[in-house]
Order: sequence, then structure tokens, then C-alpha cells
Amino acid sequence: MSNRTFTMIKPDAVANGHAGKILDHIIQAGFKVVALKYTRLTAEQAGAFYAVHKERPFYGELVSFMTSGPIYAAILEKDNAVADFRNVIGATNPEQAAEGTIRRLYAKSIDANAIHGSDSDENAEIEGSFFFSAFERF
Ligand code: RTP
Ligand code: MG
Repeated sequence: MSNRTFTMIKPDAVANGHAGKILDHIIQAGFKVVALKYTRLTAEQAGAFYAVHKERPFYGELVSFMTSGPIYAAILEKDNAVADFRNVIGATNPEQAAEGTIRRLYAKSIDANAIHGSDSDENAEIEGSFFFSAFERF
């Protein structure tokens, strides 16, 4: 069990001005923000990040949505980080996300769902490395 996970505050949440409230929600939930970056993905980067979904019908829309505006990328630290953070963000579809979760509070649709959270320790490490150098991930 690792104590780190990776997140992106997605273009919809940044564009809507929710990034500050979402970061505060994450910190109040007990996560330490150990690396943070404001950036915008190219189609090539978004395609590579979500390569695991390449064969899925929503892949094209996912890549185009994730490149539609700037995001915040961050590495978060807490005991049991991956599983606990998935609980904090809620289900992929905000209509199915539990009360009080970030997606329930801030997401509009399954595509524009405000936030990403790694789904395993292995992917947390891969995804953090995608955005941050070894120096930044100390
Ligand atoms: P994420 O990776 O962004 O944290 O989301 P997730 O684990 O909850 O969901 P995942 O299955 O990894 O899917 C990645 C993103 O693709 C979009 N999606 N659309 N139309 C659909 O059935 C569908 N399924 C997934 C969502 O925006 C999801 O966040
Ligand atoms: Mg996922």
C-alpha cells in the first residue's frame, strides 16, 4: 500500500473557477499536496495518459475534453492514498457519486467530471512521473 496518489483538476472545474475550492476540499480531507502544476495537455499527451482507454468508444471525446483547457496536476500524500482519494472524488458519473464527494459537488457530466484520481498504486506512480520529474517528486 502506497501513501501517494495522483490527481488532475480537469478543464471544466478550472474553467468554472472551482479549482481553489477543490484543492481546499482535498486538503481538508487530510491529503498533503506534495507537487502541484498548472498546465495544458496536448492531444498527444492526453492520448498517452489515457492510452489504457484507447479502444473504448469514449476515447476520442475524453482526449478532446482533456485538451480543451488548462488543468492542475498534483501528487497527493496520505495513508491509503489511492483508495481514500477515490472515495473523496466519488463515482465516475456525478449522478451516481455519493453526497459530499467532489464529483457530486462540482461535476456536470460523465465527461466533464471535474477531477481525476489514480486507480492503483502502480498507476499513481506512472501518472505522477508523467507530469513531474524525479526532483519534483522527492
Ligand atoms: P479518471 O480516470 O478520470 O479518474 O476517471 P475514472 O477512473 O472514474 O473513470 P475511467 O474508467 O478511468 O474513465 C476515464 C474517464 O473517461 C470518461 N468516461 N466516459 N461515457 C462513458 O461511459 C465514460 N466512461 C468513462 C470519464 O470522463 C472518466 O473520468
Ligand atoms: Mg480512471
